[in-house]
Amino acid sequence: MRILSGIQPSGTLHLGNYFGMMKPALELQEQGEAFYFIADYHSMTSLVDPAERRRNTLDVALDFLACGLDPKRTVFFRQSDVPEVTELTWILGTVTPMGLLERCHSYKDKVAKGISFNFGLFAYPVLMAADILIYDSNVVPVGQDQKQHVEVTRDMAIKFNEQYGETFVVPEPQIRAETAKVPGLDGEKMSKSYGNTIEIFGDEKALRKKVMSIKMDSRSPQEPKPDADQNLAIQILKLVAPAAAAKGFEDRLRAGGLGYGDLKKALFEHYWNHFAAARAKRAELAANPDYVRGVLADGAARARSVAQKVLQRARAASGLE
Ligand code: ADP
Ligand code: TRP
Repeated sequence: MRILSGIQPSGTLHLGNYFGMMKPALELQEQGEAFYFIADYHSMTSLVDPAERRRNTLDVALDFLACGLDPKRTVFFRQSDVPEVTELTWILGTVTPMGLLERCHSYKDKVAKGISFNFGLFAYPVLMAADILIYDSNVVPVGQDQKQHVEVTRDMAIKFNEQYGETFVVPEPQIRAETAKVPGLDGEKMSKSYGNTIEIFGDEKALRKKVMSIKMDSRSPQEPKPDADQNLAIQILKLVAPAAAAKGFEDRLRAGGLGYGDLKKALFEHYWNHFAAARAKRAELAANPDYVRGVLADGAARARSVAQKVLQRARAASGLE
């Protein structure tokens, strides 16, 4: 079974990225042959600073390796190191009805906000489909917001197979219900674009301040809170703390007597400890960028040999050979 996922180097990774996509993807490393990549071509639709793209790309690589990506098992690479994917994007674009892309939220959201958009943003789902199909991927672990893109990919694969003969594997999205939508500091979906994130790694003081700023209501500490399971700090605590510890806090909040300040302090400590080992590993890796570049170069070579074979199949099927 081939498992594939990607993440854009468009900003610092946060708990939504970690629990929604990275952790499930990392756990799947054992179940099959995983291909994970840094979607730097995709980041061009939103980020225009070349230095920032380079920095973010290295940061995402560090984050993934620190969090447990095993480069011996898993093929880890940078999207643009396999330029074959852009040729497949063109080929797939020719079997993609306009209406399908017009319905995609990546484009619709921008239109709704009145933001000007470029062809790259409109074609975003086609590039994503090429990413998935060029590696004969069976399973694509992503957060809920990417589900539509995987469904669109399935449509394109089916359409191409009907038109030109059996060529592509039709992939399945894999979304974990419990972490489909990790909430941010304000209770909305945690996202870089909403400025409500808790980063996986970063400065302790700044992160403590962020955790302490999680939005709470004005009920007094003594008041029992029958809706304790809806509390934002409890919801995040359940992700970063052992189940029994999180339940202990939830019970105390429900009974009354636990203040929000104390709850948030405990949340910070659990969050900080949760990533302690990864933080140490990240510091080690950051001191050795040549090793990280080597991992990506090796991953690119392995990915490219698969991509070239699948692209060849698509070229032959469609009469380009
Ligand atoms: P952002 O919304 O911060 O820009 P991305 O769109 O780059 O994040 O998402 C990268 C991956 O992380 C995707 O698979 C996405 O589904 C997942 N993800 C992002 N935010 C969350 C969240 N709050 N909850 C669950 N998964 C998330
Ligand atoms: N669009 C995805 C995101 O923003 C990133 C991505 C690009 C991806 N290509 C992919 C995810 C292929 C899964 C499979 O999160």
